Amino acid sequence: MDDRNKYYDIHAHFLPSMDLGCKNTDDALQMISMMEKQSCQGVIATPHFYPTETVDDYLKRRHDNYTTLREALQESQYSDFDKKIILGTEVAYHHSLVFENGIFNLCMGDSNYLLLEMPFSKWTPEVLEDVEKLIKYRGLRIIIAHLERFYEYGNKKYIERLLDMDLAIQMNTAHLLKFGAFRHANKMIKEQRVDVLCTDCHGTFFYPPNMEQALDKMRKSGLESDMNRMMQNSVAIYKTARG
Ligand SMILES: [Fe+2]
Repeated sequence: MDDRNKYYDIHAHFLPSMDLGCKNTDDALQMISMMEKQSCQGVIATPHFYPTETVDDYLKRRHDNYTTLREALQESQYSDFDKKIILGTEVAYHHSLVFENGIFNLCMGDSNYLLLEMPFSKWTPEVLEDVEKLIKYRGLRIIIAHLERFYEYGNKKYIERLLDMDLAIQMNTAHLLKFGAFRHANKMIKEQRVDVLCTDCHGTFFYPPNMEQALDKMRKSGLESDMNRMMQNSVAIYKTARG
């Protein structure tokens, strides 16, 4: 175990049967063993929430699957890992969120941090206005999930507006590690556009827990001070969520 690679991950999909990739408790335990090997100190489980179900139904599903995982963890060699898990959600943007009574139940742990997934399409001014309302009128601290994935839809102009807002930007480790993407990732990081680096892990092969590799890549690429800044932000968010 390399102590220099101790990390917190605030965007991860490892609760069983909640998302694509992690189908059952065996998958979840394998992902957790990978996190343990990489010196994970704490993780926020962020299953997807889409407005096709109610917040209450989603929370019940998340609770049930988390309970299943805890039972499996108790019988495994990773029983202590349960103490590292905080529940959160990756919330898909929808206009109705602005009025959603249960929105605070989707935040990370005891915090008002909300991980928001923007539309995978060309945005509109209304989308940006709604994000602003979530911050100003609902009092949420928004973390935009994997901003790098939205440039391709012709959103450059909207992304510039988003970056002026009082919110945090998250990048996936995959963007640093994916062939051909590093140049863009490096540029975003150097321009201080990224506040938090997360794995957004979804399984053992597809989007695996790979923070160790990403940290190594940043060190080798002269991005150590940015890496430390982003890791400190993750710790701060995790600790606020812990309450
Ligand atoms: Fe995600």
